[in-house]
Amino acid sequence: MSTGAAPPAAIVIFGASGDLTRRKLIPALFSLFRQGLLAPETTIVGVSRSRFTDDEFRERSRDGVADLAGQQFDEAEWASFAPRLRYMAGSTDEPATFEQLRDLLASLDADAGTGGRYLFYLSTAPSLFVPIVAGLGRVGLNDEGPDDSGDAFSRIIIEKPFGEDLASARALNEHVSAVFQERQVYRIDHYLGKETVQNLMVLRFGNAIFEPIWNRRYIDHVQITVAEDLGVGTRGGYYDKSGALRDIVQNHLLQLLAIVAMEAPARFDSRDVRDEKIKVLRAIVPFDPRDLKSVAVRGQYEGGRVGTEDVPGYREVDGTDPDSNTETFVALKVAIDNWRWSRTPFYLRTGKHLPTRATEISLQFRAAPHLPFTSNAVDAIDPNVLNLRIQPDEGSSLQFIAKAPGPKIELRTVSMDFAYGSSFVKRVPDAYERLLLDCLLGDSTLFTRWDEVERAWEIIDPLLEAWATAPGPFPNYHAGSWGPVAADEMIARDGREWRRL
Ligand code: BG6
Repeated sequence: MSTGAAPPAAIVIFGASGDLTRRKLIPALFSLFRQGLLAPETTIVGVSRSRFTDDEFRERSRDGVADLAGQQFDEAEWASFAPRLRYMAGSTDEPATFEQLRDLLASLDADAGTGGRYLFYLSTAPSLFVPIVAGLGRVGLNDEGPDDSGDAFSRIIIEKPFGEDLASARALNEHVSAVFQERQVYRIDHYLGKETVQNLMVLRFGNAIFEPIWNRRYIDHVQITVAEDLGVGTRGGYYDKSGALRDIVQNHLLQLLAIVAMEAPARFDSRDVRDEKIKVLRAIVPFDPRDLKSVAVRGQYEGGRVGTEDVPGYREVDGTDPDSNTETFVALKVAIDNWRWSRTPFYLRTGKHLPTRATEISLQFRAAPHLPFTSNAVDAIDPNVLNLRIQPDEGSSLQFIAKAPGPKIELRTVSMDFAYGSSFVKRVPDAYERLLLDCLLGDSTLFTRWDEVERAWEIIDPLLEAWATAPGPFPNYHAGSWGPVAADEMIARDGREWRRL
């Protein structure tokens, strides 16, 4: 086994006929296999209600991988991977399904050499999380050994959403923790698996030049944007019950914020990194329901043009209510009450059907205190900005002022750029590859701990409640625009503006 390769294991995917399995999980596992990072004994068991044979499941999986790989798809490599895939049809509300699964896993341990190491991936509708966890517990599949080798494990990856508000998340966690110990539970937030998000920690804590200026004294404010040009696609039914707050803010955006704002962990390990993140989340000032208007804006798109395409309004999407009160856009002003960030606001925004797909963190520095060049007022020049592009065009840039050539002193904004694509020839792996491998290796650093998830719900719960009871002024932005005017007004009241992406 090469260094960093996973030990042999059985990976059981509940929700195997779903989109995530086809588009993300199987391609990620195939990629790990091709890189020699999955032990040859590893077996992937797809479970769902559909009555597929092993071969039908392999064929579906092959199509998913081939679609993604296009020209690069290697039939011979797939042929050596395909026998690793097995399928078991079963309904998760029937006890017999779990008995059958227990027997199948025991036979894989005996025949394939999976060694009592089990990874359960919950990629189903959230309503099935509790029955699956209970079912696994009933047949003892939560038990971690002992086996002959002494290194058996049982780990469970739970997809988002982990609850739909604070109360339901707590209830779900009670069910989960009645069966699995926290160290066995891997709550996934795929943003943490993105290379650029990990690089954010390396940029901050691997370089000495940033730390001294990474605070309220030098940073005026921070903007974090998760913009999507796509709409809700075929997920209208799910999205209409979720909305942008639950879908993106509670998890991806607050995680990005925590990584930008946290203190340096002593070690890059699951305890220290998560201890620092939770401290930041705890320092976020709760939203005051009486004063939401000045710190929170919601939007819902109406029909418009995104790129070259005319798209229908959100309320016309299949699965959404024609009078839907669900937000597809959110902008927030978040205050972090600690020494590092006091009075340096974090502005967060996310939305569907915005003009472009771009996730970016930008730290805007304070203006120079005085400019000695006549005729240049301090506020007439752009401030320094450090932009961290999470996707696409992964990289970062530092914006600063330079003199334009010529007899007069004329100031111009220029930028210093680092682009992943030109600095590294290696392919940037998909987030799911990294996260699946980490879970097989027992490293939960890039997964969210229960206290983080709980705190994130605590932060957004007041907004959820307020918005559920008061109808939004919807629809209020055109698909293909940067969201409602109120979002621009919110940041303009502080004398700032959203970055153009
Ligand atoms: C998911 C959300 O968690 O993240 C989707 O449910 C969203 O609505 C997606 O489109 C965005 O992920 P990425 O990796 O494409 O930025």
